[in-house]
This record gives sequence, structure tokens and C-alpha cells, in this order.
Amino acid sequence: PRPILLTRHGESRDNVRGRIGGDNVLSDTGDIYGKKLANFVEKRLKSERAASIWTSTLQRTIITASPIAGFPKIQWRALDEINAGVCDGMTYEEIKKNMPEEYESRKKDKLRYRYPRGESYLDVIQRLEPVIIELERQRAPVVVISHQAVLRALYAYFADRPLKEIPHIEMPLHTIIEIQMGVTGVQEKRYKLMD
Ligand code: F6P
Repeated sequence: PRPILLTRHGESRDNVRGRIGGDNVLSDTGDIYGKKLANFVEKRLKSERAASIWTSTLQRTIITASPIAGFPKIQWRALDEINAGVCDGMTYEEIKKNMPEEYESRKKDKLRYRYPRGESYLDVIQRLEPVIIELERQRAPVVVISHQAVLRALYAYFADRPLKEIPHIEMPLHTIIEIQMGVTGVQEKRYKLMD
């Protein structure tokens, strides 16, 4: 059985400030995660010649992948973070203060809530379909370096978690979720590389 490794990018400068969306680079801590991840992947997939690394088109995932040597890297727009539309670049506090109705509607139904000029979780789940089809077809291991909302949706698909839970699944930074699909079902391991 071949593993799928899911991870968020290393901590970004926007993560540190609590800003959502954007296309920022990593913090120093995030850069360290990139190195640790490379070390882990190079060891874990040492003899897996056909393995590949999939990122989004956003800098923070591409930079996280950059220290990994020896495997092809593919960028998918479908792996980009949920588009927060008019709220892109804001903190949750700013949204609550400046757009209280938006904040409340999202809180009430996070799965269906669509940011003005942006996306909902349901939109993200839909655009992930081609990625899932391609992941299912792969015979070799894949490392997916993406973002919180997108990874919640991908993880829920493989772990068979109900739709309504997706926006609330815990998806910590600096942690690798390894999924193995075997005949008896799906097995999961977690590796926390940093605090
Ligand atoms: O804060 C990091 C982040 O990836 C944002 O870019 C994104 O809007 C958010 O997480 C998604 O999480 P939630 O749906 O819980 O707001």
C-alpha cells in the first residue's frame, strides 16, 4: 500500500499576525519546518522513485516544499486555500468588528457560508474533485502540501468523515498526517515535527 502524506505549509508571516488568506512567505519557524519536512520525506520515501510532491500555487506551500530534493513537484490551483474574497488579508477580529453580519453568518453555517466574492467550504470540496481522482489513480506515494481548509476537506474524504464536520476538523501546523489505503480500509499515522 502506498501512503499519502498530508501537511499544511510551514507557519507563514500571516499566520503569526492572524491574517487569513494572502500570499505571504514563511516565518523563521515556518522555514525550519520546511527543512524538517524535507528530512522526513527524504527518509520516509527513500526507495520510492515514482513519488511526487504536490503543492498549491501559493508561495507558502512552494517555499515549504523547496528543501525537498529528489522528487518532482507539481503545483495545483485546486490546492490553493479557501478564497476569503473581500475578507482576504483580514484577521477574524477585524471581520467581527467591521463586518459583523458576515462573521455571524459564517459562525452559523461555516460549511455553506460563502465569503463575498470568495468561496465556501462546499465550493472548495467541489474544486478538489479532480485532485482526489488523480490521488486515487496514483500508484506511488504523494506528499500534499496545502492549506487548512483544503486539507480538512481532503482528509475528510479519505478518513470518511461527515460533511458537516469538515470545517471544524483540527488541522494543526507542522504535523504530517500519513494515510495508508489498504484492502482492510484506511490507516492513519501522525507525525508532529515541531511544537
Ligand atoms: O489562518 C490560516 C488559514 O489557512 C486562512 O488562510 C484561511 O482563511 C483559514 O485558515 C481557513 O480556516 P477557517 O475556515 O477555520 O477560517
